[in-house]
Amino acid sequence: MRTYIMLKPDALKRRLAGEIISRIEKKGYEITDMKMFTLTEDILKEHYAHIANLPFFPDIVKFMTSGPVIGMIVEGPDVVQGMRNLMGATKCLEATAGTIRGDFAFTNGENLIHGSDSPENAEIEIARFFGK
Ligand code: CDP
Ligand code: MG
Repeated sequence: MRTYIMLKPDALKRRLAGEIISRIEKKGYEITDMKMFTLTEDILKEHYAHIANLPFFPDIVKFMTSGPVIGMIVEGPDVVQGMRNLMGATKCLEATAGTIRGDFAFTNGENLIHGSDSPENAEIEIARFFGK
């Protein structure tokens, strides 16, 4: 199974990319593709269609386009749920210690990492960002 993982601009600005990639590697998953790029508002409206009409979306666009991101394809058994477990909950106060967000995120918006929420969405997101 494979999933789409994206290190958000705060992860790069805070020099946490290595720490987060290390956790993915130590878990045993395989990173089979990786690239650094900058998101646009158009692609975010597609990627975040489920939150695009919520009041905080303009802030998310500002944040997510504020610097480069690192997109990755990560592979392993049950990796979609497994990566969600490594990431921790969306909201920083609900993310438990030991997870990436629990250990390093202190706001709900700037929460360091994106991971697909289902195998179906993983394939859609991999196609969107890697064209494969
Ligand atoms: O990223 P995740 O799948 O955990 O959460 P989401 O519900 O798909 O929301 C996408 C992103 O919107 C989150 O990662 C946050 O950056 C942001 N968000 C927020 O700032 N406040 C919320 N109440 C929900 C989402
Ligand atoms: Mg999501």
